[in-house]
Amino acid sequence: MSSTIDSAEVSKASARLTAGQLVVFPTETVYGLGADARNDQAVRQIYALKGRPLGHPLIVHLASAKQMTAWARAIPAIAWTLADAFWPGPLTLIVPRAHGVSDVITGGQDSVGLRVPAHPVAQALLHEFGGGVAAPSANRYGRVSPTCVAHVHDEFGGATPFVLDGGDCQIGLESTIISVLDAPLLLRPGGVSREALEAIIGPIRIAQAGEGPKAPGMTHMHYAPSTPLRWMATRDLPAVADGTVAVLARRPKPLGFTGHWLEASTDPIQYGHDLYAQLRQLDRVGARTILIESVPQGAAWEAIADRLGRAAATHQNT
Ligand code: TXA
Ligand code: MG
Repeated sequence: MSSTIDSAEVSKASARLTAGQLVVFPTETVYGLGADARNDQAVRQIYALKGRPLGHPLIVHLASAKQMTAWARAIPAIAWTLADAFWPGPLTLIVPRAHGVSDVITGGQDSVGLRVPAHPVAQALLHEFGGGVAAPSANRYGRVSPTCVAHVHDEFGGATPFVLDGGDCQIGLESTIISVLDAPLLLRPGGVSREALEAIIGPIRIAQAGEGPKAPGMTHMHYAPSTPLRWMATRDLPAVADGTVAVLARRPKPLGFTGHWLEASTDPIQYGHDLYAQLRQLDRVGARTILIESVPQGAAWEAIADRLGRAAATHQNT
């Protein structure tokens, strides 16, 4: 994460949001593609640039938890408890939407996703802009989220809007999404672990596919490189040269293996930080298949297993 803030750049970005233009900005999870959440025409441009079907709801980013009341009504006590504990940070809360929150943001649902990001550049932008910024991850629909500015250019090329550079994203995986419309429901594991959440509010149910409010990043195939991707138990990883595969494993390349092999971290925090950049790297080598060593079970690996599972499902089903 870059610690220096270029306030002239932040002001330019804020002015663009006010003028109804799109802005790419860093968060501690992944880069976001932002628009003024009160400007439907601006928000529609997000869908157009991403190629995202209308009806997939967007997260509204806020400078602070105090702003929640402008976007949500009948805010349950548990939402304030979670906001106190985890904002600013990688947690998105699904709450009942306030009157006037646009269907373009919510996909026509009666709820809205809210998040206060921690990245200092995002904080500076949100404070200067003052309003809510609707932003999905800054990638084309269904693809791997960007964790640095180069990834954003890979996604949008010459169509890339104004970009605020905040360096490498510290976490590298998207926010955890919790619905508090009813008993807390985990819609997407992410930057805050379920254990950390449960330490504050007790047991959280994990949504089953198709359950709970509509969340395309959850129920659809997502987060995929172009090259077909498969999971593989450690013992099944190839040991000899094979130019048709590209491997991501938590161990060094075996002697005698001359193909593409990236060594991933054995630490889940570092693994999550590196994952999207490594998937992009493996996607570029021209292999026929990306093989990923399956990851350990347990809360610390939950978000990683979720994203890899979806990336693999994308290709099994298309
Ligand atoms: O870390 C993140 O969350 C990043 C950064 C930019 O904040 N954003 C992000 O946005 O990952 P996106 O659009 O790629 O994923 C947001 C997810 C989608 O799966 C969407 O369906 C879900 O949030 N979502 C948004 N509003 C919702 C709502 N009202 N009910 C249920 N799910 C919602
Ligand atoms: Mg996304």
